[in-house]
Amino acid sequence: MAIVYLNGAFLPLEEARIPVLDRGFIFGDGVYEVIPVYDRRPFRLRHHLDRLQHSLDGIRLANPLGQSEWQTLIGRIVADAEWPDQGIYLQVTRGPAPRDHAFPKVVQPTVFIMATALTTPSAEIVDKGVAAITAADNRWLNCDLKTTSLLANVLLRQLAVDAGCAETILIRDGLLSEGSASNIFMVLDGVVLAPPKSNLILPGITYDVVLELAAAEGQPHAVRPITEAELRSADEVWLTSSTKEITAVVTLDGQAVGSGRPGPVFKRLYGAYQTFKQRVMRGRND
Ligand code: PDD
Repeated sequence: MAIVYLNGAFLPLEEARIPVLDRGFIFGDGVYEVIPVYDRRPFRLRHHLDRLQHSLDGIRLANPLGQSEWQTLIGRIVADAEWPDQGIYLQVTRGPAPRDHAFPKVVQPTVFIMATALTTPSAEIVDKGVAAITAADNRWLNCDLKTTSLLANVLLRQLAVDAGCAETILIRDGLLSEGSASNIFMVLDGVVLAPPKSNLILPGITYDVVLELAAAEGQPHAVRPITEAELRSADEVWLTSSTKEITAVVTLDGQAVGSGRPGPVFKRLYGAYQTFKQRVMRGRND
């Protein structure tokens, strides 16, 4: 039975309970992280904890734990889980309080950590890619915060599922922002392009890794605003996330992207990403 951490205790998932007045439940008043773990080694843990701090600062909630406390708790969940490859999900909410939009005077945050089995893209998905649709980005203007208020993302992702696709790629004011649960890259004339970090996209940890690998590989790349027209004329489109790693998007709104198959630049960066993961698993720096 999976052991989770909740507010100071380690207990079976089935026994973990929160009060119904928890502001995470009532208002979606909380933040979260998803951290991939390969062979029981958390990938880029410090970066995820730094982003958690950014999200907590953004919602004006004090971090209930220090970095080393987070590392210790996550280490114990990782060690006890049944799978070597895991996705660590952690969440901090503003805790239980009588229902009132304004912050409670005394905040008792809820802290929850669990591990799930990590399923990275199958060989078939790596080989064939996935389909995506586009939609207008109707989310709020603090998309750099990883908050549990995900209703817009949920509705946008469901559009993709309804269309038999893997992801919804979001366009705001004629520019690419990101996916409903991923960052988006494209390749145009041999150059990897990514939209700049701003309040309109989540600063993806995988996004950073992909840009670092592109630099290390001598792969031409640029971070700049990407127009919808450029996205539609891309030679390659990829999505990136902690669970999807790098996945090629081969159709966009039913139209083939480039050749309609994962492209050569994807293959190069996907290979570099796998090599990088192996290094992490062997305990080298991530
Ligand atoms: N989502 N953008 C959004 C909106 C996301 O939800 C995610 C990740 C990303 C990619 O970030 P990263 O590379 O740090 O995983 C970008 C996670 C996996 C989730 O909500 O399950």
